[in-house]
Amino acid sequence: MCGIIGVIQSKGAVAPFLHQALKRLEYRGYDSVGVTTIAEGKLHTKKDEGKIEEVHRKLNLDDLPGTVGIGHTRWATHGMPSIYNAHPHFDCSHTIAVVHNGVVDNFLELKEELQSRGHKFESETDTEVIPHLIEEFMDGGLSLPDAVREVTRRIRGTYAIVAMTARSPDKIVCTRDGNPLVIGRRDGASYVSSDIPAFLPMTNNMILLLDGEIAILTADDVEIRKLSDGSIVTREAITISWTADQAQKGGYPHFMLKEIHEQPEAIRNTLRIRKDVFDSAAKIVASSRRVFMTAMGTSGHAALAGRHMFASFAGILPSFELASDFPDTVYDTLTTDDCVIAITQSGETSDTIFAVKHAKRLGAKVIAITNVVGSSVTRFADRIIITQAGPEIGVAATKTFMVQLTALALLALATGMLTQYRSREFIEAKYASLNTLPNIVSETIVRNEEVARQAAEKYYNRASFLFLGRGISIATALEGALKLKEISYNHAEGYSAGESKHGPIALVEDGFPVVFVAPNDATRDRLIGNIMEMKARGASILAVIERGDGDLKHLADDVFEIPEGVEPEFSTMAFVVPLQILSYYMATRRGHDPDKPRNLAKSVTVL
Ligand code: G6P
Repeated sequence: MCGIIGVIQSKGAVAPFLHQALKRLEYRGYDSVGVTTIAEGKLHTKKDEGKIEEVHRKLNLDDLPGTVGIGHTRWATHGMPSIYNAHPHFDCSHTIAVVHNGVVDNFLELKEELQSRGHKFESETDTEVIPHLIEEFMDGGLSLPDAVREVTRRIRGTYAIVAMTARSPDKIVCTRDGNPLVIGRRDGASYVSSDIPAFLPMTNNMILLLDGEIAILTADDVEIRKLSDGSIVTREAITISWTADQAQKGGYPHFMLKEIHEQPEAIRNTLRIRKDVFDSAAKIVASSRRVFMTAMGTSGHAALAGRHMFASFAGILPSFELASDFPDTVYDTLTTDDCVIAITQSGETSDTIFAVKHAKRLGAKVIAITNVVGSSVTRFADRIIITQAGPEIGVAATKTFMVQLTALALLALATGMLTQYRSREFIEAKYASLNTLPNIVSETIVRNEEVARQAAEKYYNRASFLFLGRGISIATALEGALKLKEISYNHAEGYSAGESKHGPIALVEDGFPVVFVAPNDATRDRLIGNIMEMKARGASILAVIERGDGDLKHLADDVFEIPEGVEPEFSTMAFVVPLQILSYYMATRRGHDPDKPRNLAKSVTVL
């Protein structure tokens, strides 16, 4: 939800870097873009509606003077995408520039108040009240950092704010509450951004900024203070292992395809996480009265599959609740004896943080599974599991889903060791099988890429699809349907195959595509019954099956084959892969950019 960047360096034009950094943040929003620099005592700005490269072709974003600047790529909340609503936003004198991610809840009353004192507004955004408030405080004699601090006392809502002024061009000031900001440092330059990949080509030395803190960046230093009392915070930089290359397309036409191909490596790296990380979280799960899982979107589908792993390995069946509805479903029934496993690749999803805060308020333990070190969710968690997918840029989650499943498998196995619901041999055999998944996923990709491309060619213009499975494969079907609808805009519904005859079957007529997720597990024979029901009504059957399953191959019009031997609890990890590839080719065949689906953002930081 909006990407923001600020850079201050001792020498060299900053604009080309801002432009490149924004491209690395574009997954956070892409309906308009803007950059402002300071040179010769003035602000210089280029901004407009549209994706970054469209705006760059029109305005040349690299052509701005100065060694200090800020930039923003927008996902609209308040005000349509337009040149006026694009950030940065300014005060009346156009000497103060601000970029913001989040929502200022009380902006209407602040705007009226400021207008009554003569302030002129240029946009419909909530953000614009911020530079006007800074202006008033600076006109009253405060420095930029003090003015920003005062602004945080006036605004309500969530925010990550980066501000600078031509009145004191030697610094950038930033602060946050509820939205992400990370700081990067190297000799002669300081960076602040919504996410690490923005400055990765320049440095992998990162300093966390926490909610309720303000940072003053100069080219040579970063000073962090508490907003509450102004006291200095000492915080060491962290070196992160992500490389700049990981955040490039590396020869693939889209990030999504690259990230699908990176899945075997991502699983491998997650399997290398130290065992004690899982053991310590497993102790909490095994000793809890009740176990909940909560997440949104694709992470929710990982949770749904994860439930089966806990049930099978540890004899514990966690409840799953969407994070957005967690407090309204669970109410205050949580106690200190319960635990909540929160899954969020970004660690920043507002709904998930909302659920986690609710759980913490009631004293439940929280285990966070996230892909981003230092992300917001980690601050509320009793145990943290950092998955090892590396940066994921495509908005549609693929490799982060895979590592969530890997981490859940490891956690469920570690819990199983403690509960002794199964024999040690059983658990060890599952560990061994999990270790074969990187190769199985590799082979699945190789075998299915062309098959999926051809299926996309055949089905790309069908209006609607059903994705059906039973047991754990309901999670796979839901994820397959989500992938398809979010990037190709074909309507798709994921459903329990058992439930499909209680409604969705009414949609089926000649040639209606139904995708079955059909591993060779306990559900297979009943699933064949569902395939027959659909075929009898003229459906075109696409099926993801285990290689060598002749009966299913015979029944389906199009098949995607998975190598034999995947354990039922891990089937989602293999069986989802052809569905990811199918949706990728459906999107490209329909002329859509799979990396930047309309109206979506990778990290949703509004409730
Ligand atoms: C957005 C993204 C999805 C993601 C969901 C949850 O909707 O487009 O890909 O699954 O947020 O994100 P999280 O970072 O919490 O896993």
